[in-house]
Amino acid sequence: MDIKNEKILVMDFGGQYSQLIARRVRECNVYCELKSYKMTAEEIKQQGYRGIIFTGGPNSTYDENAPKCDPKLFELGIPVLGICYGAQLMAQTLGGKVQSSDIKEYGKTNVEFNTSSLLFHAAKSENVCWMSHTDYIAEVPYDFKITAISADCPVAAMENLKKNLYAVQFHPEVQHTNEGMLYLKNFLYNACGCTAEWQMSSFVKDTIQQLKEKIGDKKVLCALSGGVDSSVAALLVHKAVGRQLTCIFVDHGLLRKDEGDQVESVFKQQFDMNLIRVNAKDRFLSKLAGVSDPERKRKIIGEEFIRVFEEESHKLGKVEYLCQGTIYPDVVESGVGESAVIKSHHNVGGLPEDVGFEGIIEPLRDLFKDEVRRAGLELGIPEFLVWRQPFPGPGLAIRVMGDVTEEKLDILKEADAIMREEFANNGLDRSVNQYFAVLTGIKSVGVMGDGRTYDNTIALRAVTTSDFMTADWARVPYDILEKISNRIINEVNNVNRVVYDITSKPPATIEWE
Ligand code: XMP
Repeated sequence: MDIKNEKILVMDFGGQYSQLIARRVRECNVYCELKSYKMTAEEIKQQGYRGIIFTGGPNSTYDENAPKCDPKLFELGIPVLGICYGAQLMAQTLGGKVQSSDIKEYGKTNVEFNTSSLLFHAAKSENVCWMSHTDYIAEVPYDFKITAISADCPVAAMENLKKNLYAVQFHPEVQHTNEGMLYLKNFLYNACGCTAEWQMSSFVKDTIQQLKEKIGDKKVLCALSGGVDSSVAALLVHKAVGRQLTCIFVDHGLLRKDEGDQVESVFKQQFDMNLIRVNAKDRFLSKLAGVSDPERKRKIIGEEFIRVFEEESHKLGKVEYLCQGTIYPDVVESGVGESAVIKSHHNVGGLPEDVGFEGIIEPLRDLFKDEVRRAGLELGIPEFLVWRQPFPGPGLAIRVMGDVTEEKLDILKEADAIMREEFANNGLDRSVNQYFAVLTGIKSVGVMGDGRTYDNTIALRAVTTSDFMTADWARVPYDILEKISNRIINEVNNVNRVVYDITSKPPATIEWE
């Protein structure tokens, strides 16, 4: 059985919720792909999509440069659901009327539904939906009927059952739309006839089988960092071809306390993987000695990482494939841009392309981050690894301000471990998206016992964010901050002051360097 058989096309018109729509479809256990609105009807037909969803977008359908779909796609007989801008575009393309209003309908809005409509089957006849629009559909196209209204919106939803075309002015993908998932399910299951086969257990089974076929008796190499993406990717390959996979784990000595040992023990002992741990701390520290510029530090670590990886891989003789933990948000096309969005961060795990492999294996290319985590749990990876917060490739080197020494790293590791332990003890480790300690490089005066001290300042950083592009500082309860501060002062030598960073991003970045 091919679980991608029943795929849905999410056509991106540049809306802020485009990826969210795709994730919601997947949550309904239906596989979907997010593609640019430029896809032609012919291409759509060839791909065999079961249904199409138009996303929202920032434009007005009447703008000169407004993104338009290929009008022929309405003649393919494939069900279409238009959302917000997508709804207006459907109306306008098929002969209805879209107008601009003086009133912007924004936020939670009461909507009345005709529950005999396919889309609102088994739904409540009145409910709260999330609206965000200025333009509205003033007249529906021929043969369409209005299936929902709100106080300021004469067409909150419309449908043409014969042609299997549906449109909603509100956002069913947003949590504030109370029964949004029900409307989406009605579209996916009842209009498109999907049967919810996209399940993580099936994905894992399918992928392992496909990897077996693709790799055959060849060899695969993977740079394992202990992060969730590379761990899940490596484990899928390991389940498929066992010891034909070699993982190289470059321990640059800049990992958090005990992390190197944890990674080694999970993959070697629990999964019996062919893992080479390269203890390269001294090498990295000697290259970093005396360097305090953050970008120089990043560059040195990146280059040294590649050098160590290459040296180790040469010892293995011929290896045909390189396995990488690329995930869907890294490769997904931007809806309105021309080119693919490439991972923005200079990840230290990034390897040059000319390392001489026959091919690249990327088993997670189709998955969103939450799906990668589910696949990890399915494969039996321990929760602490699956839920690990993001950790930058250059590691603690960019959390020690200025030049990096072993002594400074030791102070930071201890303080950071205390913070993480207290976050976990108080259940903040899932709700706060990233949190860590920083050795600020500032020394200040203090008193301890009867004596004056002149010692290090540790800063605590904790942020909530959904995309790491913007972030807010986390409102951590004072008593937890107090406990962390007391423990750091009492348990870590050479620290006499702890501060909490209350800057959002922008203007600050999440990391201090
Ligand atoms: P900033 O500090 O730019 O961080 O707000 C955003 C996210 O990116 C991570 N980060 C990095 N990740 N290599 C990485 O692999 C880097 O050089 C790097 N710098 C920042 C940071 O931890 C946060 O999650």
